[in-house]
Amino acid sequence: MKEEKGVSRRGFLKTAAVIGAALSINPVLDKVHAAEAVLSGKDSTKLKSGNMQYRTLGSGNAAMKVSALGFGVMGMNYNRSQSPDRKECIRLIHEAVDRGVTLFDTAIIYGPLKNELLVGEALEPYKGRVNVTTKFGHEVIDGKGTGRQDSSRATVRRYCEESLRRLRIDSIPLFYQHRYDRNTPIEEVAETISELIREGKVRRWGLCEVSADTIRKAHAVCPLTAIQSEYHLMHRDVEINGVLDTCRELGIGFVPCSPLNRGFLGGCINEYTRFDTDNDNRHILPRFRPEAIRANTRIVNELRQFGRERGMTSSQVALGWLLHKAPWIVPIPGTTKHSHLEENLHTLTFSVSDEEWRTLETAVAAIPVVGDRYNAEQQKPVGY
Ligand SMILES: NC(=O)c1ccc[n+]([C@@H]2O[C@H](COP(=O)([O-])OP(=O)(O)OC[C@H]3O[C@@H](n4cnc5c(N)ncnc54)[C@H](OP(=O)(O)O)[C@@H]3O)[C@@H](O)[C@H]2O)c1
Repeated sequence: MKEEKGVSRRGFLKTAAVIGAALSINPVLDKVHAAEAVLSGKDSTKLKSGNMQYRTLGSGNAAMKVSALGFGVMGMNYNRSQSPDRKECIRLIHEAVDRGVTLFDTAIIYGPLKNELLVGEALEPYKGRVNVTTKFGHEVIDGKGTGRQDSSRATVRRYCEESLRRLRIDSIPLFYQHRYDRNTPIEEVAETISELIREGKVRRWGLCEVSADTIRKAHAVCPLTAIQSEYHLMHRDVEINGVLDTCRELGIGFVPCSPLNRGFLGGCINEYTRFDTDNDNRHILPRFRPEAIRANTRIVNELRQFGRERGMTSSQVALGWLLHKAPWIVPIPGTTKHSHLEENLHTLTFSVSDEEWRTLETAVAAIPVVGDRYNAEQQKPVGY
């Protein structure tokens, strides 16, 4: 990501905000110092793997125990402007494992293919000790996405074999359908996955961005472990379209993707931010147009204000709000930076009451969100 103001200035501003809070709000000085220490990387004792919290996605035979925060690997080489050196990415993934993260999310379409290859190489030494989740559905021919969906039996079976090879594993811990395929009934997709589970090639499955009705139909054929859809303080559709209620009722886990609204709630993006047009979809998203960013910064400021009084950064507030919603919710923020990994994981050490979260929620809900999350083309394969 190229910004008019450089990266070091961003880091400086963030740390300065925390220090500013420390000087002005004495009762929370110790919490502020903790946040400061994390930002500067000095205090990592609380964040080692022994301190990780765990959650369970799904129930019965479909249950999967994972770290309370996962790691979305997509942005390491796809759609988030940054493309750090492969070795640097692997070091960061290993750092996440060392800190207790056991859930790593990728997909065939990310890259395409190269994100799975990165995850496969990085996590090979931890085979059997961490969970990789990947996704089928977007058609990929000769390494390129066609824009079509294909969840037909033959294609899902072929994609499964290819993902296993790229991920260097014998069985996929959780295989999601990435987008609803209007040409293949969901019951048929569920049958295909049941076969793959019987054959030991897939352990569990999930769906992304689907309706409550689709979840019920799929779950009746083959129990689901998790639904993955966008969910954060600026996009709360799953609270009103029945998806979260259905997950609660059926004992299915929920994984909010893009939990920082593609980085926006982290507070490092402003109207002057320039996205890499070859490797970032944010430049075509209505919500990331400069005028939308300018207007929506009011929301980030609300999170900053809430965080300032509690020694939290806006990312920690965004992730903490999701975590408090239900014990079967596991956000998967993505990052290319050690400092952001630390900061995000440190969210698990804060304690905020339900009433305080409600206050934040009300304040944020009073601010209109400007710009749709997707353009019309991207909205088409969303199944609700
Ligand atoms: N199922 C689906 O359809 C779907 C759709 C989108 C995403 N996903 C999954 O969800 C994962 C995460 O989504 P995402 O990458 O779209 O969005 P995200 O996690 O909301 O945001 C990632 C962005 O936030 C920045 N960031 C991370 N921590 C930060 C912090 N503490 N302060 C400031 N900025 C911070 C990262 O930049 P730095 O590198 O600079 O930290 C990165 O650009 C993906 O990796 C993918 O696995 C799934």
